[in-house]
Amino acid sequence: MPTEQPNKRVPIIAGNWKMNLDVAESLRLVREMRERLEAVTGVEKVLCPPFTSLAPLQAELAGSAVKLGGQNVFWEEKGAYTGEISPLMLKPLCEYVIVGHSERRQYFVETDATVNKRVQAALKHGLKVIMCVGENLEDNRSGRTEEVIARQVRGGLENVPDLSEIVIAYEPVWAIGTGLPATGAGAAAVVSFIRRTLAERYGDNAARNTRVQYGGSVNGGNIAEFMGESEIDGALVGGASLKAADFTTIVARTAEIKGSQAS
Ligand code: 13P
Repeated sequence: MPTEQPNKRVPIIAGNWKMNLDVAESLRLVREMRERLEAVTGVEKVLCPPFTSLAPLQAELAGSAVKLGGQNVFWEEKGAYTGEISPLMLKPLCEYVIVGHSERRQYFVETDATVNKRVQAALKHGLKVIMCVGENLEDNRSGRTEEVIARQVRGGLENVPDLSEIVIAYEPVWAIGTGLPATGAGAAAVVSFIRRTLAERYGDNAARNTRVQYGGSVNGGNIAEFMGESEIDGALVGGASLKAADFTTIVARTAEIKGSQAS
């Protein structure tokens, strides 16, 4: 029997600001949250503002433990791709990039194949990836959640040799921006399924060491329900990440709860 390695997963809370906040508003929000975020240890903290705010926030956060991420990345390095952002442009500005968010899949014709191209390009250029997966309401209601999630996980990670720089975000589409989150137990069951899917290709240890977040109507009031599930390693937060009090509460509660699970 191989010996089981301990779980080494550091919880990660990422704020996806989506298409909100100009540069001045971004700086204001970060100045409001910064001290409280930095005071929390044991949780990785990532802010994903619009591209236009990355450089000013990088300067503002110099020397801070609060990290930055992009919300998308194109797969080509440069060229005639009007409106796109290359991994070479992102790399000097941030550590993470979100890929395959359901809003990109829904409004910008993102497919598992294009998600995969973005994942590979990001990794090639040293960016860490938060890859989003999640079923829509119809798939959920008709019992196809696992089928959809397995296809998104396998497709998004095609030809990705290892998971060391990958975080998966499980974001059921029906829970995003609706104020109707999944239950902790329901999300944990899908997160376990994601780990089983990862294990098929990468083995049990790699799957066990890969962080999987939950996202979808997370706020300061319900974060405990999700972080109480040991399978879930943090959250990808939309609306509540635009409110300093809510976001800092989410980070602080995560540290408390995950700290007590680890001990
Ligand atoms: P909400 O937290 O606003 O539901 O958004 C979740 C999300 O899409 C994060 O990427």
